[in-house]
Amino acid sequence: MKAAQPYTPLSEIPADLVSVTDYARRAPEHMPRAIYEYIAGGGADELTLRGNREALDRWQILPRVLADVTEGGTQTELLGQHLRHPIVLAPVAFHRLVHPEAEVATARAASALETVMAVSTLATESIEEIASHLSQPAWFQLYMQQDRDFTLSLVRRAEQAGYACLMITVDASLHGIRNRAQRAGFELPEGVEAVNLRDRPPLPRAVLDPDQSIVFQGMMSEAPTWDSIQWLCERTKLPVILKGILHPADAIKAKELGVAGLVISNHGGRTLDCIPSAVDMLPKIREQVGPEMVLLADGAVERGTDVFKLIALGADAVMVGRPQIYSLAVAGAPGVAHMLRILREELEVCMAMAGTPRLSDIGPQALIRV
Ligand SMILES: Cc1cc2nc3c(=O)[nH]c(=O)nc-3n(C[C@H](O)[C@H](O)[C@H](O)COP(=O)(O)O)c2cc1C
Repeated sequence: MKAAQPYTPLSEIPADLVSVTDYARRAPEHMPRAIYEYIAGGGADELTLRGNREALDRWQILPRVLADVTEGGTQTELLGQHLRHPIVLAPVAFHRLVHPEAEVATARAASALETVMAVSTLATESIEEIASHLSQPAWFQLYMQQDRDFTLSLVRRAEQAGYACLMITVDASLHGIRNRAQRAGFELPEGVEAVNLRDRPPLPRAVLDPDQSIVFQGMMSEAPTWDSIQWLCERTKLPVILKGILHPADAIKAKELGVAGLVISNHGGRTLDCIPSAVDMLPKIREQVGPEMVLLADGAVERGTDVFKLIALGADAVMVGRPQIYSLAVAGAPGVAHMLRILREELEVCMAMAGTPRLSDIGPQALIRV
């Protein structure tokens, strides 16, 4: 294992950093190349990664002029929680890869901008420490562990630390084929660790016959199933959201299980390649699950207009993954706060200029597909 590289976040935000994409452009200067490739990259040929951007770009906003927008605002309510804007920080592993204050810096930014932070199971700060820097309850992203007691212990810690929701990620039981990160020789540097998994019991080594598959009988033999979700739902009072749903039939199944919400997501194009974007599946899933179920969506959100489009297509809120880690690398907590402010202000500008002053005004009528 190599030692962690020196970090070089900026002490001041330069005046020419004015968009989320500016942060993405500057990010490679603030981290070693292998780390950048791990963060920026996607699965296999990155068709899904590119598809996320292309899917958003296929939609345009059809503005209505001369509307009275003076009562406008981006506030919303999700799972009983007040949100200043429908933009949530997606769970992202290993913030310490890019900044010494790691998830604590991100939490400070989330508090400053009244933004919900979804904290990854693979965080590099403890569940409790991150919560102590947040002005409003975070959500805990859970990767279900092979050992059920250990999984439950993570859930109990999140409950006791005041987290408001369990977001169970269901699309990453296996690592994607991460060729870009592999080519760059990415490995976790010394000192970067999933600290909340320290007490995880050692995994029993599967002994496979020569005719057995390392995937099916090996890595997937203990992967969670619908039964595991039901088991967990019965053991927590927190609302459960499933992250990584794309198929409308899975959305229906989750609803039948009593799951409170879904994140329509392809994991930022990082898991299976050649799968659709949230943009393409969201309308169908909204139609199937009805207006009440909480739906979030993510993938390539980097403009207020992207937030607007996903809301118009059926999302209640959106999540941003790479933008938070790029802005953290470039300028630490102030960078993440700045990135969130840019997105919120761009969303406000878009809503005002489209003639849809409240989130509830934004619907399919505000878009055309090109
Ligand atoms: C570096 C990196 C690490 C991630 N780690 C996690 C994780 O620990 N848990 C999870 O559910 N999703 C994880 N994701 C996926 C994000 O939550 C989110 O779905 C995705 O980044 C959204 O796409 P975007 O990066 O284009 O905004 C990660 C994404 C990136 C880029």
